[in-house]
Amino acid sequence: MRPPRSPVHGNLTAGRGDWGDVAPASPPHRRSGAALRNRPPPVTTVLNREFNSVTAENAMKWDALEPSRNSYNWAAADRLVNHAAAHNQGVRGHTLVWHYQNPSWPANGNFSASELNTILRKHIDTALGRYKGKIYAWDVVNEAFNEDGSMRNSLWQGKLGSGYVANALRWGHAADPSPKLYINDYNIEADNAKSDGLYNLARQLLAQGVPLHGIGFQAHFVVGRLPSSMKANLKRFSDLGLEVSITELDVRIPMPASSAELAQQSTDYKTATENCLGVPRCAGVTVWGITDKYSWVPGTFSGYGAALPYNGSYGAKPAYQGLSDGLNPQA
Ligand code: G3I
Repeated sequence: MRPPRSPVHGNLTAGRGDWGDVAPASPPHRRSGAALRNRPPPVTTVLNREFNSVTAENAMKWDALEPSRNSYNWAAADRLVNHAAAHNQGVRGHTLVWHYQNPSWPANGNFSASELNTILRKHIDTALGRYKGKIYAWDVVNEAFNEDGSMRNSLWQGKLGSGYVANALRWGHAADPSPKLYINDYNIEADNAKSDGLYNLARQLLAQGVPLHGIGFQAHFVVGRLPSSMKANLKRFSDLGLEVSITELDVRIPMPASSAELAQQSTDYKTATENCLGVPRCAGVTVWGITDKYSWVPGTFSGYGAALPYNGSYGAKPAYQGLSDGLNPQA
């Protein structure tokens, strides 16, 4: 059943947040989402008007939740989950098992493999348990692959071996059977060595009956450089029976952005969105922030910026229209 809609909504969900009419084989509730870093009123106004899903940009990462062992800080994550519940928004959980933004204690504690397994399971149990029934999809394993398709040598891979992925998914499903459990990564949008590595793992996990339900394609793009194989690549994962979602879409531009680049960016937002919606099991598209005022891009890619659909003054950029056109193909 379609969730109740706020009486005032923008074009990005256009009053039909499930897009059920677009692709009959698709999941019943396709989502248009945004990552949220903080909650100044202009951001939440846009979020509530335009989106029906929200991801915590940082608040659910392990270092935020449990900075020192057994000492939890749920405040920011709780606020986000409560905000979503109050505004009929779904929540994507992000992220449980990652090589980055972990507290220092799991790596520094000189734990045995068995102790580390117990620690990781407790983390997964605790986070899923706290938000049981309130999160529709979790990025359980994040960025587990190298560019050549091999497994990244993280703390988890190094100490636990590649079986940590299956274990994390099984533990997650045992803690809360309701959310769709995802593997999420970047630079896997194209048909390339990295997406091949993930594809092979996904196939193996499914053959073993591991509760893997979806693949998150982060989709951090450079303007004008969307991979031409994106749709076919998403489809091969969908053909395995998995959901596919764009989980962190942004399109960065060398600064200062020209009007031609802003127009190209709009096309890129539209094409990326169409590439997902054109695949039967596309479950949604999430943008990695709302406004260029709060974006990870300038701090990481020197000289780049303007990656999101709204400018720093909360004005809709051409990218907003591109995203809207992509989400509403019959409009
Ligand atoms: O929380 C500390 C704060 O106490 C301190 O004062 C401040 C000083 O720099 O740092 C704060 O932590 C920062 C954190 O964001 C929260 O703001 C980290 O330094 C900063 O590295 C961190 O960046 C985030 C990054 O992930 C690493 O976790 C970005 O905001 C976030 O956009 C980015 O998101 C990732 C996805 O999770 C996974 N995919 C890639 C994507 C982009 O890198």
